[in-house]
Amino acid sequence: MSSLTLQSTIPLTNSSYRIPALGFGVYQSHGPTCIQSCLTALKAGYRHIDTAQYYANESQVGEAVRKSDLKRADVYITSKILSPGKDADSTYKSVIGSVEAIDKGGYVDLMLIHSPNGGPEARQLMWGALERAKKEGRVRSIGVSNYGVGNIEEMKEYAETWPPQVNQIELHPWCQQREAVSYCQKNNIVVEAYCPLVRNQKAKDPTLLNISKKYNVTTGQVLIRYCLQKGWVPLPKSDTESRIIANADVYGFEIDDEDMQKLDGVDQGDKGAIVQAVTN
Ligand SMILES: NC(=O)c1ccc[n+]([C@@H]2O[C@H](COP(=O)([O-])OP(=O)(O)OC[C@H]3O[C@@H](n4cnc5c(N)ncnc54)[C@H](OP(=O)(O)O)[C@@H]3O)[C@@H](O)[C@H]2O)c1
Repeated sequence: MSSLTLQSTIPLTNSSYRIPALGFGVYQSHGPTCIQSCLTALKAGYRHIDTAQYYANESQVGEAVRKSDLKRADVYITSKILSPGKDADSTYKSVIGSVEAIDKGGYVDLMLIHSPNGGPEARQLMWGALERAKKEGRVRSIGVSNYGVGNIEEMKEYAETWPPQVNQIELHPWCQQREAVSYCQKNNIVVEAYCPLVRNQKAKDPTLLNISKKYNVTTGQVLIRYCLQKGWVPLPKSDTESRIIANADVYGFEIDDEDMQKLDGVDQGDKGAIVQAVTN
C-alpha cells in the first residue's frame, strides 16, 4: 500500500508551505448549504477547501472554518480572482476583497487567476495583483487555473514570481491534458484536478465500473484515488453528507498499475472535457 493518507501534503515550489493532497470543492454550493458541507468535510478530515469569487460563497467558507473546532492555520483555503479591475490598484483591491471575505484581517493560503480567457492585459494585471498580495502576506501562495503551456510561458515576460505555484485544470481519465500536466510537473507547478468526479457523468462507464467492483469501492472513490496516485490534487465537490465522507475514504486501497493503465486508456483528449480543456 502506498504511503498516501488523508493527511498527505505536497510541497509548493519556492516556498515553505505545503498544500493538502486532497481538496474539497464548493462550486454551486450556496449559503447555509455551503457552510454545512464545509463543516461536514472538515469533520470527515478534509483540510483544504477550494472556493472562488465566481462561486459567491467565499464568506460562507470562512464562516464554516470559524464555526468548526479547527484553528485557521489547520485549514488550507484557496480562492480565485475572476477578472481584473480597471487598473492595478482596483485589481489588487479585488484580491484583498476575497481575503477579507474569507478571513477578515487574515490571509488566504492560495489565490489563483481563475481563467486566462480575458486576454494578455487581464492576465498581467491579475498576476501583478497576486504578486503584491503575496508580498504583503495577505496571500501565501499564488497560481493559475485553466492555463496552458503558452499562457504560463507568456508570464515570463512580466512575472516577478515564476513559475506559478499551482495550475488548476480539468482532469479525470477522459480528459488527461497530458501536455499541460507534463509541462507543469517538469516546472514544479502543482497540478490540481477540477471535476475529478466528472460530475458523476461516467458512473456507468464499463472500464470504471469493472475497476470499482474489483476493489469493492464506489466509482467516485476510484476517480479520486486515480488523481491522488497521479500526483494531482483532486477537488471533489458534494453537498451530500454520505458522499462527502465516502469521497475522502480512499486510503484503504491502491489501484494497481494495470488498472491505472486501463483508466489512462479512456482518455478522449479535449473532447473528454466537460468544462474546458486548456487551449495552448
Ligand atoms: N478552476 C475552474 O475553472 C473550475 C471549474 C470547475 C470546478 N472547479 C473546482 O473543482 C471542484 C470540483 O468540480 P465540480 O464541482 O465541477 O465537479 P465534481 O467534483 O467532479 O462533481 C460534483 C458533482 O458530483 C456529485 N457527486 C459528488 N460526489 C459524488 C459521489 N460520490 N457519487 C455520485 N455523485 C457525486 C455532486 O453532487 P452533490 O453535491 O449533490 O452530492 C456534484 O453534482 C469545484 O467544486 C470547484 O471547486 C474549478
